[in-house]
Amino acid sequence: MAMEKLFKIVKDNKKSLREKSKEIDLPLSDEIKQLGLDMLNYLKLSQDEEFLKTHKDVREGVGLAAPQIGKNIKLIAIYLQDLNHNNQLVTKQFVLVNPKIAQESAKKCYLSQGEGCLSVDKKHDGFVYRANKITVEAYSILDQKQITITASGYLSIVLQHEIDHLFGILYYDRINTFDPFKVDNNAIAI
Ligand code: NI
Repeated sequence: MAMEKLFKIVKDNKKSLREKSKEIDLPLSDEIKQLGLDMLNYLKLSQDEEFLKTHKDVREGVGLAAPQIGKNIKLIAIYLQDLNHNNQLVTKQFVLVNPKIAQESAKKCYLSQGEGCLSVDKKHDGFVYRANKITVEAYSILDQKQITITASGYLSIVLQHEIDHLFGILYYDRINTFDPFKVDNNAIAI
């Protein structure tokens, strides 16, 4: 049986989660490549019902940023199910090094259920408004080359949430303190 790499998730009471992450040197070391793949695998496991039954301390997640496993470097992984252009549910997965948001739409979107985070145990209610459409440039570990991702809706939200981690920003920082459920009529609810 393959060894499962189970990370200890850094929670939001740790100062390191609030620090800015460092750029990763290219070409990539084998160590970083493996770390990225282990992060992706952690997310897959976290969505496996059988696995969760025997690992009560693991929470289901769709995204993970390196600062959440105690490494302040620009590395993120995403594993989620989303609709494609033909409205079919597909798996979208990314392991990205030095991701940068190159473009973002003025149009906003938000999760009507609010966001969650593996590093945040307490639920913070409220809407997190993010750009509905973004273009991200990054080195992709799965493709082994520099790629440009155009994302909208759910994937766009998850990418922005994970990239925020690289700047020490948590989702609840973006909730309006005085009016957490303030409605932006121009924003798309997801
Ligand atoms: Ni998070």
